[in-house]
Amino acid sequence: MTEITEGKAKILIPDPVEFSREGKFDPAWSPVFYNPRMVFNRDVSVLAVSVISPSSVLDAMAATGIRGIRFVLEGGVNGEVIFNDKNPVAIELISKNIELNRITNYKIMRADANSIMHQLKVDYTDLDPFGSPAPFLFAALSSLRRKGVLGVTATDLSALEGKSITACNRKYGASGKRLNYSKEAGLRVLLAKIAREAAVQEKGILPLISFYKDYYYRLFVKTVDGAKRADKALEQIGMLYECQNCGFSFMDKECQVKCPMCGGEVNAYGPAWIGKLNSIDFLNRMKERLDKAPQINNPNSVKRLLDSLISENGMGPYYRIDVLASKLKVNMPPTHRLIDCLEDGTRTHFDERGIKTSKSFDQLIECMKNLA
Ligand SMILES: C[S@@+](CC[C@H](N)C(=O)[O-])C[C@H]1O[C@@H](n2cnc3c(N)ncnc32)[C@H](O)[C@@H]1O
Ligand SMILES: [Zn+2]
Repeated sequence: MTEITEGKAKILIPDPVEFSREGKFDPAWSPVFYNPRMVFNRDVSVLAVSVISPSSVLDAMAATGIRGIRFVLEGGVNGEVIFNDKNPVAIELISKNIELNRITNYKIMRADANSIMHQLKVDYTDLDPFGSPAPFLFAALSSLRRKGVLGVTATDLSALEGKSITACNRKYGASGKRLNYSKEAGLRVLLAKIAREAAVQEKGILPLISFYKDYYYRLFVKTVDGAKRADKALEQIGMLYECQNCGFSFMDKECQVKCPMCGGEVNAYGPAWIGKLNSIDFLNRMKERLDKAPQINNPNSVKRLLDSLISENGMGPYYRIDVLASKLKVNMPPTHRLIDCLEDGTRTHFDERGIKTSKSFDQLIECMKNLA
């Protein structure tokens, strides 16, 4: 065992040196999972939980217990935290870590996440599986009290983005062609799946924050009870499109075959969430918390993400500037010049080669040509 510090928590983790193979280390090789590359995910989650301010929390896949512990120490949870993991070695470690951090209001359970989530009711459930969250979404949604919030990590990007279209169909019921804005498409497919699972339980969802980072998606959705709220959320599900000819990208509730710009054939992908990905109010409140959270590992990159999500919110899919440039057979303009030319454009956190704008596609193309 070795002790590390993350945020305000001290955590015992299996010593990576002991479980390395030929000088390499993968957190999955260790008897209890701890991934330092997920610190950013946990930092953002702590800030989100501090805004939600839940009175009861379920850390459904707790591993070392790092999330639940940080939610108490930094997220201001003022009620019980339930730590669950099916791995007995994780359970022993969670007990030690709870003691080390002097957590008092808690329960530890060793159960299958789905079975426990069907039995409990909490204000906030955190779902942090290996790979796809799809097998756990229904139970996770059912574990929430009225107006409860669900936090989800998904690392199965090849399925969600449509690289592996059969896996996407199996897990998320979405199919079609991989689009050039696949990073955004994957997040929207995941949200649509959550909205459908919630609707079965007569709950609607409201995305509070949802984003892509490195090799995963992370999102928080608030649930609102009632069949009408469920129907309203389902209205936000449609299809994602991209013209094979001119590159015009759009989202629509209706089935489209031809590009409304040039009449060319479109690639379609979905069903996917076509509504907003974030709540501006929630993001602003997270920013306020960030200013008072010196323990956050990399506050500048968290702030950059929050600012980017604020400027991107409500805009259509992003365009890959390199893809458009090659379609137009022009040189790729610098992103900042394109943004200046459009007078209404923003970079996107999804892709450093991407741009979003509320201006028309024609204006974007004109700027691309003028700047070439
Ligand atoms: C990615 S790790 C969780 C990491 C942790 N939340 C963190 O932030 O460091 C996934 C954990 O889920 C547990 N797990 C996997 N399937 C499970 C299931 N069906 N029920 C309960 N726990 C499960 C694994 O034992 C593992 O500890
Ligand atoms: Zn077109």
